[in-house]
Amino acid sequence: MADKNAFPTYRGDMEYFCLGCGARYDTTELHYTCPDCGGVFLLQDKNFDALRETSGEEWREIFDTRAGSKNDPLRGIFRFYELMAPVMDDKDIVFLGEGNTPIVQSSPQLSAELDGQKLAFKNDGQNPSASFKDRGMACAFSFLNYLIRTQGADDILAVCASTGDTSAAAALYASYASDKIKSAVLLPQGKVTPQQLAQPLGSGATVLEIPGVFDDCMKVVEHLADNYQVALLNSKNAWRILGQESYAFELAQWYDWDLEGKAVFVPVGNAGNITAIMSGFLKMYDLGIITALPRIFGVQSHHADPVYRYYAEAPEKRKYAPVEVEPSVAQAAMIGNPVSFPRVRYFAEKFEAIAGEGSFQVVQVSEQDIIEGMLLANRHGHISCTQGGECLAGLVKARQLGLISADETAILDATAHMLKFIGFQNMYYENTYPAEYGITPKPELANMPELVIDAESKEKLSAQDYTVACASSIVEKLGLKHR
Ligand code: F0G
Repeated sequence: MADKNAFPTYRGDMEYFCLGCGARYDTTELHYTCPDCGGVFLLQDKNFDALRETSGEEWREIFDTRAGSKNDPLRGIFRFYELMAPVMDDKDIVFLGEGNTPIVQSSPQLSAELDGQKLAFKNDGQNPSASFKDRGMACAFSFLNYLIRTQGADDILAVCASTGDTSAAAALYASYASDKIKSAVLLPQGKVTPQQLAQPLGSGATVLEIPGVFDDCMKVVEHLADNYQVALLNSKNAWRILGQESYAFELAQWYDWDLEGKAVFVPVGNAGNITAIMSGFLKMYDLGIITALPRIFGVQSHHADPVYRYYAEAPEKRKYAPVEVEPSVAQAAMIGNPVSFPRVRYFAEKFEAIAGEGSFQVVQVSEQDIIEGMLLANRHGHISCTQGGECLAGLVKARQLGLISADETAILDATAHMLKFIGFQNMYYENTYPAEYGITPKPELANMPELVIDAESKEKLSAQDYTVACASSIVEKLGLKHR
């Protein structure tokens, strides 16, 4: 019987693998892009074959046993240590409570509204900084700790461009991890929500803004990373991708490692998340931990849809081209030139080679569908952000297109907490969307506070009469009956 608290003894030998030219580099240095061709990297474990000496069943038992661990380094995403970045020691690992996010079944009412569709949300907004980005940051910061310990690195400046959630996560982990790591974040001015902006400010990071969109910020931090001594924390940093694979591992574990008849919906922005999720499922399949792959549905808004456009073409006609984004309520995914696109292509091909045509698809949804997807989910007890709403809209679209049936279980990635994106709900209720969003609120969906009694009337009443007057007004509004 495995010891639930024992930190793994296995150590991998990680190397960077360039998706552009196939070059390989060791990991004694932090690389973001290939020094030869500028391509993006994946991290691969040269010892991976050694993991095959343990059977799929044994791995399942190890991970299930560790699920009850009281040892901090194993309580979060590193429960799946051997599958991710198995170079760190337990003392390197940063644990802030990330991972283990709940999969919440939809209510029967929501399922009925969706024509009997089986569905559940995985609430990644229940991570510490309220988005899935904490998974990747826990891994990237643990690796930085490892570099500090093994190479004496100090005075690290961690930088990232962000639509608001990467920056919140980076700033949070930097403020905890080590006094040798400082954090600076670069944001598109006015294009992150007030809640997202408050997060890195609260964590004490240096917050920098430029006019423009995320894609502009990304170019600036890439320039900095190419020419100056900074640690880039965007998902170009392949260590982040490894941490984000934990979403796939947890999902498989929750369904007792049986992914037959499951479809996973993921909103796509910079395309790091969908990359990591596919990579995670493929690793488990490779080791016999799972024996069926789920189907993967990427979802994009018509205002930021380069990945959708690529896959909408017949295979022989596909040509990748960035798009100019337009305003989107799925603002965190409002990206016209996703850095991880080559990674998506790489893993989608592998997915289809195993699970066949239709195992990887991308659907496109409208802004109206996205915001109404969020409202619908949350009116049925969920805590979905706009990107989670995008997944729900994607599911509805996939049903309409006949790509999924009612009895396939859809697991929707609610990538952030609803409260981060609540301003978009308010704009819908208040009917204040600028025309560029192309959203026309339905008045019957609006929900506004109602004043029970006005301040002037209150002035005229005694304390006792005021209570009774308020209560009477409420009785009338709610149509209450006497006991
Ligand atoms: N959902 C949320 C809440 C996000 O913050 C992001 C990306 C996505 C979905 C899209 O995921 O980029 O991996 O395809 N946010 C990044 C950021 C870009 O800077 O916070 P992706």
